[in-house]
Parts: sequence; structure tokens; C-alpha cells
Amino acid sequence: MNGRDYFPLGKANGKAFCNRTSETKWLLSNIKAAKHSLLTAPRRFGKSSLAEKAVTDSGLPMVSLNFNTCTDEQEVEKLIREGVSQLIGKALGSIEKLAHSIKKYVSNLTPKLILGTEHAHLELVSEKQNVSPAKNVEESLTLLEKLLAEKKQAAVMILDEFQIVGLIAKGAGVEAAIRNAAQNMRYLSLIFSGSSRSLLLSMFENESRPLYKLCRKLHLKRMDAEHYQQHLNRAAKQQWKGHLEAAVFERIMLLSERHPYYVNYLCDVIWTECDKLPTLIDVDKAWQQVIEEEYSDASAEIMLLSMGQKKILKLIAETAGVYLMAASSVKKTNMALSSTSGAIAGLVEKDVIEKEESRYQIINPVIKKVLQ
Ligand SMILES: Nc1ncnc2c1ncn2[C@@H]1O[C@H](COP(=O)(O)OP(=O)(O)O)[C@@H](O)[C@H]1O
Ligand SMILES: [Mg+2]
Repeated sequence: MNGRDYFPLGKANGKAFCNRTSETKWLLSNIKAAKHSLLTAPRRFGKSSLAEKAVTDSGLPMVSLNFNTCTDEQEVEKLIREGVSQLIGKALGSIEKLAHSIKKYVSNLTPKLILGTEHAHLELVSEKQNVSPAKNVEESLTLLEKLLAEKKQAAVMILDEFQIVGLIAKGAGVEAAIRNAAQNMRYLSLIFSGSSRSLLLSMFENESRPLYKLCRKLHLKRMDAEHYQQHLNRAAKQQWKGHLEAAVFERIMLLSERHPYYVNYLCDVIWTECDKLPTLIDVDKAWQQVIEEEYSDASAEIMLLSMGQKKILKLIAETAGVYLMAASSVKKTNMALSSTSGAIAGLVEKDVIEKEESRYQIINPVIKKVLQ
């Protein structure tokens, strides 16, 4: 393993996966008990990495669905239907032997056996007219659970960026369909995850929404510095046969603000650029490079905000731990209190700021830097 392999920009697994032991344990115990879980955290905080780590540790068959690109109910339904087919293949083996049971459990969907070079696989096709996407979702998930129950086989389905479903399918029945299928599951464990915490929480914590009280919940935070210290030193040993100086390590934590993606990004640059143990100057130079590479993405994100949101964001960037409703803040932004609270709500919903230790913080350290 190369030192750089410790710092992927995509999902972290194996040696690149740092800590998250209590979170992994929590998720693993839910999976084992066939309880459903909801993971929330800002983008690139490690939700997908954590979910896959826990499922890999469980050794159970799984499928991971990402709703990111879905734009309507039909696409949501298709994704779930295909995920179900795939998981049936992974968890239950030979489809030919299941044909009898499958026919018994479906009424709206048409099961088709597709002959491949090695194995046959199942396709659940929606051919009947006048059957709603929601009905098909319920039937697919229920079919999967019943087949798993026949074989007493547990399995996991990850439903990533699930807030999209709430946005496009609100009131359209998909949420209710998932609830109907999920509330009595004993073999299939569902892991819902996504950014946009407020959207997700309104789906799962609002009494009038179908998914209310379906899941155990976990909000992922930044990782503690002490865990990163061990992790980075392992990678330093691999690369330079030594330990990072305490001040160098602290600088990495300070600049990246322990944002998991930016810790990896910054370290990847350091581990690439330095042929001996890095100094403070090396760290600063590497961070400059990260900022340069990320500058246009961060600016584009800021450009999408309203004037009021930008004002509030600037104020937070300039004054750490500022109390936004204080008279001095209001004077600086020259905004009415109602506009201020509207802007804050918008920024929270867009996942740009988050309340940490009772004050709002900018989540992405590069956005903060750009504003400063
Ligand atoms: N436990 C972890 N240890 C080390 N790096 C991690 C960990 N979890 C996530 N990361 C890193 O953080 C970034 C975002 O991870 P990802 O799982 O894709 O987050 P999300 O699904 O929340 O967007 C990636 O660079 C990934 O390698
Ligand atoms: Mg993800």
C-alpha cells in the first residue's frame, strides 16, 4: 500500500477508513437486528463510506441505490425495482429455483428470467397499465422480503441521497409504499442516507409523513483529531518512515477543519509533493493548491445563493462564532430579523452552514476561505 492510498477522494474503505468505530458498531447492530437506519450528515462527511463499511463487516449481501439523478416517481420506482432484482440474485442464488415463489408473490409486476452467459438473472418488469409506481415499489420490496424470509437470509439495501425521493415524490405515494413494505421487515434492513438534513428529518420526524418513526437515526459529525492523528501517522510511516511533527499535524487539522473530504484532499497533495516529512511550509503550500483547485467550484456554489444568504455567510466567515441575531450583526448586514432567519434557514437547507456547539459554522472550509 502506497501512502497516498490512505487518502481517497471517493469512498474510504480498508486501510483508508479511519475510526468511526462507535458509528460502525451502531449501524452493524441495527443491521443484525433487521432494524432500519437513517444516516444524515453534510455532503462528503463519510455517510456512504460508513454505510458500506458496516455492511461489509456484517458480511451480508447488499445493494446500494443512489437517488441523486432521479427526477420523477417513475425513475425512483425503476431504481428500486432494479435494486430488488439485483439483491435477489446476490442474496438468494439460482433464480430458476425461485421462479415458483416469485410468481406466487407478484401480481402487478412481470418477472422475467434473463439468460446470461453464466447465470440467469431476474428482471421485474412493469408492463401493466394503470399500476402506480408506488404500487410497484411496494410489491418489489415485499417480494424481496418474502423471498429472504423463505430462506431465512438477511440482506441490506442502502438508499442514498434519499432526500430526493421526498422532494419529487412528496404525497405521491412512494414514501407510503416504502413504509407499508418496510414496517414488518425481519430480514431486509434498510439504510436511508443523505445530506440536506432538514429535508430528511421532515420526512422521518414529521408525524404526518409516512416514514415517521420508521428508523433509528444517526447524525455524523466531523472526526476527532486524535483518531486522525493515528491514521495520518500510519500513512506517514508508510511514506517517509517517520511521524509527523505535532505542529504539522495540528496545522493539517486546522486548515481542513477536520472536514473528511478536505483532510483527504490536503493530505493527498502533501503525500504527493513531499519526498521527506512535511514542514509547516509544505502544509501551507499544499493547502494553497487545494484552494486553487477548488476555487471555481466553491465560487459557483456561492453564486447560487441569494443576496441575503451571501451576506449572512460572509458575516459567519469573517467572525467566527458570531451570534447572527445580535444587534451588532443586524447592523452589519442591515437585514430585518425575519430576513436573517429566512436566510439562515435557506443556508441550512442547502447544507452550507450547520449549527455546531450552538453557533452556525460554514461546513466547507474552502467556501469559508473564498469568502474571506
Ligand atoms: N471513516 C473515514 N476515514 C477516512 N476518510 C473518510 C472516512 N469517511 C469518509 N472519508 C472521506 O471523506 C470523503 C467523503 O466520503 P463519502 O463517504 O463519499 O461521504 P458522503 O457519502 O457523506 O458524501 C471521501 O474523501 C472519503 O474518502
Ligand atoms: Mg455519499
